[in-house]
Amino acid sequence: MLTQQTVNVAYDRAIDGRGLPAGLCYGGDYNPEQWPESVWQEDMALMRTAGVNLVTVGVFAWSSLQPRPDVFELDWLARVLDLLHAHGIGAVLATPTASPPPWFSRLHPDALPMTADGVRLIHGSRDTYCPSAPAYLAAARTICATLVARFRDHPALAMWHVHNEYGAVCHCPHSTAAFRTWLRDRYRTLDALNDAWTTAFWGQGYGDWDEIETPRATRYLANPGQDLDFRRFCSDALLAAYVQQRDLIRAATPDVPVTTNFVFGPWVPVDHARWAKEVDIVAIDDYPSEAGPGADDQTAFAGDLARGWARGRPWLLMESAPNLIHTPGRMHAKEPGRLAVHSLAHVARGSRGVMFFQWRQPRGGAERFHSAVVTHAGADTRVFREVVALGERLRTTVPAVPRHPTAIVFDAHSWWALQGPGLPTAVDYLAEVRAAHKALGAADVVFPGEPVDAYRTVVVPALFLLDDAYAEVLRRHVLRGGTLVVSYLSGVCDAYARVRLGGYPGALRDVLGIRVEEFQPLAAPVELGFPAAAVPETGMFWSERIHLRGAVAEATYLGGSWKGLPAITRHGRAWYLSTRLGPEAYARTMAHIVNTER
Ligand code: GAL
Repeated sequence: MLTQQTVNVAYDRAIDGRGLPAGLCYGGDYNPEQWPESVWQEDMALMRTAGVNLVTVGVFAWSSLQPRPDVFELDWLARVLDLLHAHGIGAVLATPTASPPPWFSRLHPDALPMTADGVRLIHGSRDTYCPSAPAYLAAARTICATLVARFRDHPALAMWHVHNEYGAVCHCPHSTAAFRTWLRDRYRTLDALNDAWTTAFWGQGYGDWDEIETPRATRYLANPGQDLDFRRFCSDALLAAYVQQRDLIRAATPDVPVTTNFVFGPWVPVDHARWAKEVDIVAIDDYPSEAGPGADDQTAFAGDLARGWARGRPWLLMESAPNLIHTPGRMHAKEPGRLAVHSLAHVARGSRGVMFFQWRQPRGGAERFHSAVVTHAGADTRVFREVVALGERLRTTVPAVPRHPTAIVFDAHSWWALQGPGLPTAVDYLAEVRAAHKALGAADVVFPGEPVDAYRTVVVPALFLLDDAYAEVLRRHVLRGGTLVVSYLSGVCDAYARVRLGGYPGALRDVLGIRVEEFQPLAAPVELGFPAAAVPETGMFWSERIHLRGAVAEATYLGGSWKGLPAITRHGRAWYLSTRLGPEAYARTMAHIVNTER
């Protein structure tokens, strides 16, 4: 359906730096601290067999590297790096700051995180720190600087990996104070904040900055503006924690790329589109939340999204599962053969390699059953053979980064807002974006605030928050002759989650040539009259009462409250979908739109 251009990539120095392998990277997380040294030699031999050329070391090794506040034990890591180098394997050297040791918590109980319910979490898992606590930030700097000083010139050093999967949320007094400072920077005056958060509703007007709390447990619905700003604050607080380490590293080893692994999920308060500008290469962890074809769709979207974050440059699949994946409360398996399918799907979307979590399956610990390359059963396994076969294939695969003529807009802030309190419906933003992506088959991913000039078609699913500037970018795209496809719940609110008045979809009414007067969730599917579709289509989940203001109706509701009224509209090249289509119908509709506008 869509034509795809593939470009060969000239890697730039920022990525290749001193030591990333020249072709595709292949390997994964290696945790030798969990094993006696006698196992390390076997690891090296097996890595050679599998064609591994890069491993990540040290991610959670803080208590092994600094067993007491004033004791550092780096020799074992030096021996690991020497061994890797001797076997021609590069090291992505991690800073272990995602898992502070127990002595740290004992010494600095104020740096332990607090939940929204006011519960102080203790060590015993991982990520038990407050990103705004001075003691945590100082300890993170210390261990980072210690690693840098010792290993900056080590020949195995290929890349730095700061922390692991930034995403921790905290409501403790340090976070509260930092949130207030962040708000003062953003709003300058309390009047501006009160206006942005519409605090006149339910008498929440603030008269002093110190009255403001993080959105902690409260009686009923919280304030949507406060909730949204807190997520933005969390993203910025975590970014500052990353940047302090990155800058320290860069100063010592400017020729070695620095990254952190992005994790993606509804619980992650990180604006990756923004963060991506702070890393030398975008690195993602990808663990589909389901098995079967759904996992293939998720993989495809994750790869296109990563390329979007990388702004069309190569990126790296830093973690993936050879087999069993943890999802909340259970694990699901990757079917035989899918290890290669998913890995190659990422490479085809611009990944500079394939990395697994993890190399050797641990015998204990919380993730002892999460899959690995070398399993509890050893290396005489289907999984290891699949890893070896993939390694051979990757050696002859030429890295390339595709480009598409169609872009999907993805917005972390709209996702957060659609998880906030007091919404017109419970809509899963990610599912909406993935559905649009699946309907297209493949697409580039772009972010609000950035130009879309390179694209023929721009698809905007459920972009709940829309500021005037980006509405103008989309308007100009249509004026220039581009096609725009907007779906329901887009453009409803401004950047503060306040509703745009005068009818939905707010700032896009004119470009779409419509005015939406009312929303109505659909209890049951409604048939659509859609002459352009060869077969009857059905609208599900959502519907809207649309008035045409220049647009034409391409499809109408055949039943329900809006019987005879428009369901899908077109205003020149600007299309609007006011209801949810099933996967086949969505794909047919996208094909129809793209073909119509060619
Ligand atoms: C990743 C994480 C790893 C490991 C893995 C297991 O998100 O970075 O440390 O927990 O998940 O699924």
